[in-house]
Amino acid sequence: MTRSTGSGRDAAPQRTSAPAAADGADRPLLVVDDLHVQFRTEAGTAYAVDGVSFTVAPGEVLGVVGESGSGKSVTSMSLFGLIDTPPGKITKGSVKLNGRELIGAKERVLRKVRGGEVGVVFQDPMTALDPVIKVGRQIGEAVRVHHKVSRAQAMQRAVELLQQVGVPQPEVRANQYPHEFSGGMRQRAMIAMAIANNPVLLIADEPTTALDVTIQAQVLDIIRKAQQETGAATLFITHDLGVIAELAERVMVMYGGRVMETGSVKEIFTRPRHPYTAGLLASLPSLTRDEAELTPIPGSPPNVLSQNPGCPFQPRCSVGRDRDICRAQRPPLAEVGPGHFSACHFPDETPQPRACVLEEAAVGAAAAPETGGAATDLKEHS
Ligand SMILES: Nc1ncnc2c1ncn2[C@@H]1O[C@H](COP(=O)(O)OP(=O)(O)OP(=O)(O)O)[C@@H](O)[C@H]1O
Ligand code: SF4
Ligand SMILES: [Mg+2]
Repeated sequence: MTRSTGSGRDAAPQRTSAPAAADGADRPLLVVDDLHVQFRTEAGTAYAVDGVSFTVAPGEVLGVVGESGSGKSVTSMSLFGLIDTPPGKITKGSVKLNGRELIGAKERVLRKVRGGEVGVVFQDPMTALDPVIKVGRQIGEAVRVHHKVSRAQAMQRAVELLQQVGVPQPEVRANQYPHEFSGGMRQRAMIAMAIANNPVLLIADEPTTALDVTIQAQVLDIIRKAQQETGAATLFITHDLGVIAELAERVMVMYGGRVMETGSVKEIFTRPRHPYTAGLLASLPSLTRDEAELTPIPGSPPNVLSQNPGCPFQPRCSVGRDRDICRAQRPPLAEVGPGHFSACHFPDETPQPRACVLEEAAVGAAAAPETGGAATDLKEHS
């Protein structure tokens, strides 16, 4: 395991393997190693995911956070064959679920994994629900793909699942079409479908962003309950640091298609070791401070159409802006503490957040319906 030494100037060579046991996963369920995903566009090649490695332990909730375009969705969609090829292509890397390699697996195998071992909840439920098939039938069919049960038994299970995710009058609702559901109810139906086959892994990509703020907290609660009831590990993608503080045990911070920092929520929120993470925390509004005191990260996210030989955050970084090594050398994701990794040449120079930032984030998330839910949203401040 690589370990950064003090200033990091003499940091160990770049790691290419996923930080497995040391980041809390003794026997990981999911191991993603050096994943690269590119898109061919008219403007050139977009390096959307550029050497991402991480692990998820059984039952663990890993929060994934980063500004828009940092590669969160492309990473999660690439794991189980959901990116459009072309224009997208996985050019390198390995994804193992329970030890089984999924990169290069046949579509038939990936289809079995999705909706079986892995349940997916997207931002927009209409991407997963067929508008012309009744909701109960769709959930039932998801069950029948993986289990030999009759149509009637599958429908019975669909009704149970709708009840489990808090859909009122589930027998009636099961016989309705998606357009007869409200946005929040559709999201519940998608969660029902995602957990229909007791997945070992749930992937939730901004599952509440499209919802009315009064519904967001309810849907988050449903996901948390579903996660606890199924015991599924969860990859929870969000812009909202408050949601991360509330739901996740570990967090992975992404920027420009790379992992910048990963560690326990407590460590990352109270002692970040990467200036980008510190920037995200500084742009987190305090419930007790004046909004005018917010410190947004200057500059804009990197252009993934060009590959910078150094640190992707360098043009915006107060620590490394004028340092040659930051311009010239890509920092490795190196261990800076037990289970804590940072891709920075100078992790010890990371500006530190106010002591109470973790509590504020958690309070902000809990107060989402009343505060408008935007208190901790990076979209608002990036
Ligand atoms: N189909 C596509 N064609 C070309 N480029 C793409 C395509 N899909 C994604 N990208 C690019 O890949 C990069 C990563 O996108 P991704 O959707 O993963 O970001 P994200 O972190 O999920 O952002 P957001 O928070 O806005 O959802 C972006 O620069 C995006 O423009
Ligand atoms: S520019 Fe240098 S100091 Fe700043 S995040 Fe990158 S490696 Fe760290
Ligand atoms: Mg996304």
